[in-house]
Amino acid sequence: MEGRSGLTLLFTVIALFSLHFRSCHSSSDLQILTADRRIDLASHIIRVALVLKLEVKLFEKPLAGAYVFDAGPLLQVQNDGASPASNVLLAFPPTQAKHLALLQAAEVTGKKKKKTLHPLDVKPSDQADGPNGAKFFSISLRNPLSIGGSISIEVSYILTQSLEPFPVEISQSEPQLVLFRDSSSILSPYPIKQQTTVVRTPSTRVESFTRVEPSSQLRTELKYGPYESKPAFSYTPILVHFENNNPFAVVEELVREIEISHWGNLQITEHYTLVHNGARHKGGFSRVEYQSRPALSGVSSFKHLVAKLPPRVHSVYYRDSIGNISTSHLRTSYSKSELEIEPRYPLLGGWKATFIIGYGLPLKDVLFEADDGKRYLNFSFGCPIAETVVNKITNKVVLPEGSKNPSVVVPFSVERRAETKYSYLDIVGRPVVVLEKENVVPEHNSLFQVYYEFHPMFMLAEPLMLTSVFFFFFVAALAYVHMDISIRK
Ligand SMILES: *[C@@H]1O[C@H](CO)[C@@H](O)[C@H](O)[C@H]1NC(C)=O
Ligand SMILES: *[C@@H]1O[C@H](CO)[C@@H](O)[C@H](O)[C@H]1NC(C)=O
Repeated sequence: MEGRSGLTLLFTVIALFSLHFRSCHSSSDLQILTADRRIDLASHIIRVALVLKLEVKLFEKPLAGAYVFDAGPLLQVQNDGASPASNVLLAFPPTQAKHLALLQAAEVTGKKKKKTLHPLDVKPSDQADGPNGAKFFSISLRNPLSIGGSISIEVSYILTQSLEPFPVEISQSEPQLVLFRDSSSILSPYPIKQQTTVVRTPSTRVESFTRVEPSSQLRTELKYGPYESKPAFSYTPILVHFENNNPFAVVEELVREIEISHWGNLQITEHYTLVHNGARHKGGFSRVEYQSRPALSGVSSFKHLVAKLPPRVHSVYYRDSIGNISTSHLRTSYSKSELEIEPRYPLLGGWKATFIIGYGLPLKDVLFEADDGKRYLNFSFGCPIAETVVNKITNKVVLPEGSKNPSVVVPFSVERRAETKYSYLDIVGRPVVVLEKENVVPEHNSLFQVYYEFHPMFMLAEPLMLTSVFFFFFVAALAYVHMDISIRK
């Protein structure tokens, strides 16, 4: 009898511990007070801004006796700093997680004009997937949140390839209609007390949208909510069918070579495979109609694109497999250069164009010396063409011959490899730092740095080699002349 009750006690303790352990690691103690989401569907790149006000909820009055013991230690654990609210989880449906190009979060302090943003770390969570395969991302807070404490967080994320053309094929005279799918309520592992979602469309031409009361359309905005007290993982599918004639410009692949020459120049060569990723074009194409009625014919096509290049570019060229394309205009100003490129034919849905853009830059604009004597390149990572998605970008930084120990600073995760490039007069070859990234959007156009060690002696290698080659020829010629004479004798 004694032993059995002892055993029961032990089991109760274990049960309590496991309960306690579970609540420590579950996130049910957080709740969202208000959530405001703005989904911008103006282009083919979907930008979402989410403002959350979160609070660590006090435990409700326990009903069962066992919970009395559970609530106590949990409070203590939180005061110990091992609080479960040092992370906030974000949930995404699996299809959105797959097309997530960028995800950023910041803590907001102060109000309105005195608002300050403190960037927070966000990474994929190692927690198992949620209901319906929901994927989690974890935001690390600057300071753990104590019970009753609240925090405001601004989250912004970008989705690519998430607008589905419908109809899938259109003729030259038809506008492009697309479908966007999401949920009227925000997917979250926490209950949300009050939330609103606003979906912005490029024009008032909305064919249809799912109504989830209260919902309304005001000009180019569809408003869902406010919805009150939604439990965790609430999901109500919505479908918005609307007109979007913006260029669905997708670069399937961009290979950029950035070559540093210590003789004063940086040479950039960019190889593009560009595709119109919207509704596929069907039927014939009439250039006469296209040119005479631009407002009605091929409205979703694009004729030209603008590449933003650094100021002081020189020797700019734009060519394809046939040769130089002269229909490009370069405008330069003090702060930037704009290259307007026009492929040989307008790009209609599903059409492709491959071309190369090249330009040079003065080295002093992009190459610097660090305090420790290393040199570094400070250059923009992404694609210079406005509003394009790049499925895969490869940046190849070709360092001068003789450079050593390259290291890279990039503000987001990239794949890195090393190659060697040989050109004229190279003896050991030039080290190449190759950086690859998939699903790249204009927001990835931030600066990155490649640091390397370089001994100035190496700059003399090529001239020395040239001199020695000439000297060798000279000696050889001299010997030949002498030999010639000796034979005649
Ligand atoms: C193309 O343009 C580049 C740069 O302006 C020039 O060097 C090259 O000779 C041109 N090629 C042809 C075939 O016109
Ligand atoms: C890179 O250049 C930008 C301006 O073009 C500058 O603000 C930034 O500090 C530079 N980064 C480094 C590490 O020098």
